[in-house]
Amino acid sequence: MSDVIFQPLSFKNLTVKNRVFRSNISGRFDNYDGSGNQVRINWETKFARGGVGAIISSFVPVHARGRIIPNYATIHRDDRIPFWRKVGEAVHAHDCRFIMQLSHGGRQRDVPDIQYPTGQSSTAKRDPLHGFECERMTTADIAEVVGAFAEGARRAREAGLDGVELHGANGYLITQFLSSAINDRKDEYGGSLENRARFVLEVVRAIRARVGSDFHLQMKISAVEHNNSLLVLKREGPGNTIQDSIQVCKWLVEAGVDAIHVSTGSSFPHPRNPAGSDLDVEMLSQTYDALASSGTTTFRNLLLFHNSLTGSLFRKQWLDAGVPANQIEGLTRPDARTIKQAVPQVPIICTGGFQTASVIRAAIDGGDCDAVSIARPLVANNDLVKQFAAGRDAAERPCTYCNKCLLQVVENPLGCYDESRYPNREVMLQEVLSVYQPPAFQ
Ligand SMILES: Cc1cc2nc3c(=O)[nH]c(=O)nc-3n(C[C@H](O)[C@H](O)[C@H](O)COP(=O)(O)O)c2cc1C
Ligand code: SF4
Repeated sequence: MSDVIFQPLSFKNLTVKNRVFRSNISGRFDNYDGSGNQVRINWETKFARGGVGAIISSFVPVHARGRIIPNYATIHRDDRIPFWRKVGEAVHAHDCRFIMQLSHGGRQRDVPDIQYPTGQSSTAKRDPLHGFECERMTTADIAEVVGAFAEGARRAREAGLDGVELHGANGYLITQFLSSAINDRKDEYGGSLENRARFVLEVVRAIRARVGSDFHLQMKISAVEHNNSLLVLKREGPGNTIQDSIQVCKWLVEAGVDAIHVSTGSSFPHPRNPAGSDLDVEMLSQTYDALASSGTTTFRNLLLFHNSLTGSLFRKQWLDAGVPANQIEGLTRPDARTIKQAVPQVPIICTGGFQTASVIRAAIDGGDCDAVSIARPLVANNDLVKQFAAGRDAAERPCTYCNKCLLQVVENPLGCYDESRYPNREVMLQEVLSVYQPPAFQ
């Protein structure tokens, strides 16, 4: 096939059959205690069947205190290995690779679980959006978490998975160390860029020491943090620039990282990630109550979203800080291109809005990236890659970037909730609930 989308991509330790990766997308499919179940397997299989070359998993905590919400499967103990082996086997049956995203939430969470109501971070400052409390990590805490990442990679390898990704993007623990806006430490893990990068580089070296040099390891990074996009974040400053990220990527590659996955924004969600065409504040106020009792500012936020005037002001601020709807597809291409030119040794995967074959081809052929990762447009059209293979440039009912999947995910099953894409609400609900077949508990 001459189509670049369907040319295999070879990393140092992994070959993927095409250039479309399913990007990380978390849903509350697992059990409260972080053990996995059949629903997660059903979910991942949808995308493998739909033709993507590889799936990069959702947020998988490497440590019980790194969880951001109950019901996400973890990799923090050896007894999780058999479950992930089953996930890998189900995905491999469709000639699709599976890369696990090793993650730790730090101070950024959605709904803390009963075991660890307080997070850990580079800082003792609360998360500014929801006001989740955290403690500044001691060097002993840091060493423990570095070890947890290495053990997570070892377990992923023992489960027969094809590689791991460090979640170094979107405001979670690794970003909290890397970020000039968030990290306010005075010790060897804070201050200069070199010091702020020490934590993630220790993680990379510990993983390499644990799993060797022949297991795929990539890093997702927020290339530009845009940390002060919202009023509530102004006092923290803008955060890391593209120049900072280039230097970090160079160090990561020297330390043994095989690929860079380029994202944006210092928090999750962020006006630019996932970038939305609109913000349905009424839906937000209906689902945000799941967070209301967990953070110091969540109840205030809930009232703000409920009130039509303050709700519409928040919506305006959020959308103004994002990008216009016609610029969502490929919004991180310029950052990916800059990193690719500065760090030519490893392939670059770019995320953000991709769903048109000709745009993806242009991004790869034009030298912006080597592959794209897709989250929401694949939720909307699980078989998008098969549609590209059949010659379509775009799906008949593309993702509208309405972000209703995101607004629903803390309370309801992950899926596409844009009713305008379905003949009626019943059909939409049937599609969302199809992930429960076969059921988790027989
Ligand atoms: C509901 C939802 C959950 C997500 N979960 C994760 C996650 O667990 N880890 C991560 O790195 N990114 C996560 N993302 C971000 C996506 O992987 C992706 O980078 C972003 O949505 C932009 O790509 P898209 O326009 O193709 O959706 C999530 C996005 C959505 C909408
Ligand atoms: S709800 Fe559906 S259409 Fe809207 S952003 Fe999510 S996947 Fe796309």
